[in-house]
Amino acid sequence: MADPKKLYIRTYGCQMNVYDSERMAEAMGGAGYVETGDAAEADMILLNTCHIREKAAEKVYSELGRLRGLKAANPDLKIGVAGCVAQAEGEEIMRRQPLVDLVVGPQSYHRLPQMEARVRAGEKALDTDFPLDDKFDTLRMRPKAKRGPTAFLTVQEGCDKFCAFCVVPYTRGAEASRPAARVLEEARDLVERGVREITLLGQNVNAYHGEGEGGDWSLARLIRALADIDGLERIRFTTSHPNDMTDDLIAAHGDCAKLMPYLHLPVQSGSDRILKRMNRKHTAEDYIRLIERIRAARPDILISGDFITGFPEETEADFQATLDLIEAVEYGQAFSFKYSTRPGTPAAERRQVDEDVKAERLHRLQALITAQQRAVQDAMVGRTVGVLFEKPGRLPGQMVGKSDYLHAVHVSDAGLDVGDLARVEIVESGANSLAGRVVG
Ligand code: 5AD
Ligand code: SF4
Repeated sequence: MADPKKLYIRTYGCQMNVYDSERMAEAMGGAGYVETGDAAEADMILLNTCHIREKAAEKVYSELGRLRGLKAANPDLKIGVAGCVAQAEGEEIMRRQPLVDLVVGPQSYHRLPQMEARVRAGEKALDTDFPLDDKFDTLRMRPKAKRGPTAFLTVQEGCDKFCAFCVVPYTRGAEASRPAARVLEEARDLVERGVREITLLGQNVNAYHGEGEGGDWSLARLIRALADIDGLERIRFTTSHPNDMTDDLIAAHGDCAKLMPYLHLPVQSGSDRILKRMNRKHTAEDYIRLIERIRAARPDILISGDFITGFPEETEADFQATLDLIEAVEYGQAFSFKYSTRPGTPAAERRQVDEDVKAERLHRLQALITAQQRAVQDAMVGRTVGVLFEKPGRLPGQMVGKSDYLHAVHVSDAGLDVGDLARVEIVESGANSLAGRVVG
């Protein structure tokens, strides 16, 4: 038998792309490919791209430029662009970069094996359809190989919210949920293969409404059914919109022991005027009241968020309102970005804020967030938390895992294995992680 061909995938962007890359590797496994971590030995390179900000898209073009040398060294090398840049700019990429053989959008990658056959025959292949056949059905049978203790599982894709800055509703399309039975089946399969923690993914995951027994299921109902799976110890979900934070989901945070006390709930701005201009359909006050209700259900929950600085027409007073909201919420984690103009979105047409103002505001916002994150992390010292160990640490006998609150925790204990879930007393808070000792 001929040696298997080698596939190198580089993943940009969000966790949904990480999940998609795994599924693309599986699809290509069926076409005789094994994955490699070394682009230089690959027979095919796929860039799984992100389109959310301008920089993310630019990176793809510069990475393609760098691949020119590899293609010169190996004329049989095939290069493909997948993901959201492929979806949005597929034809332009093929025009601009002749070394690209294949362009595949996030809804069509189950067709990769057929596309690969075409490019091997010397054709170019482009597929950015939103096909009626369900890619998840076609990809249902993941190979039964053992895998690490944590996994992503996409349950929902697309978004109908149309925030004025965001390309997702255009690149990932309308909101769609997978049937509950399919999700449960995939989760059971993952658990059989050694997974103990599943993070449910969706661009708007708490808008989940997959068909299930007795009608559409909410995300809370899905989480409760997943919690019944023996061997699955931890459940997380991301990313959520405040307006889809339903009472049953808030209640699940209070009474479902396997649902971890961490919630990523982006608000983007603390100014009502800007929130309105962003088409967020909630006020700063709504958000703060919502956080209060979530904390009433689960007082120790760690709140995470996303922020944009310098959205069109944002004034210093608007920005100050964002800092005030951050002060009021106390975040344990946050991601923040300068507003990036995305052609085709409503905000792209409005009066833009100067780059240096965006940058200066981002700097101030990040200083506040960093201080809050640090305070929340430091307050873990002395507490006993669950830790799921994911990999050996740098020192001999050391293991690194994630706490219930998603902090990295390292422990020196020769008795630990990858996949162990232990009670750990936190003894020290370092620059980017906590140190602890196993207590049970
Ligand atoms: N500019 C800057 N940040 C953006 N995000 C989405 N679109 C843009 C944009 N055009 C951020 C939002 C979102 C996160 C995934 O990316 O904060 O929650
Ligand atoms: Fe984009 Fe999220 Fe807004 Fe949807 S809810 S448009 S994915 S920022």
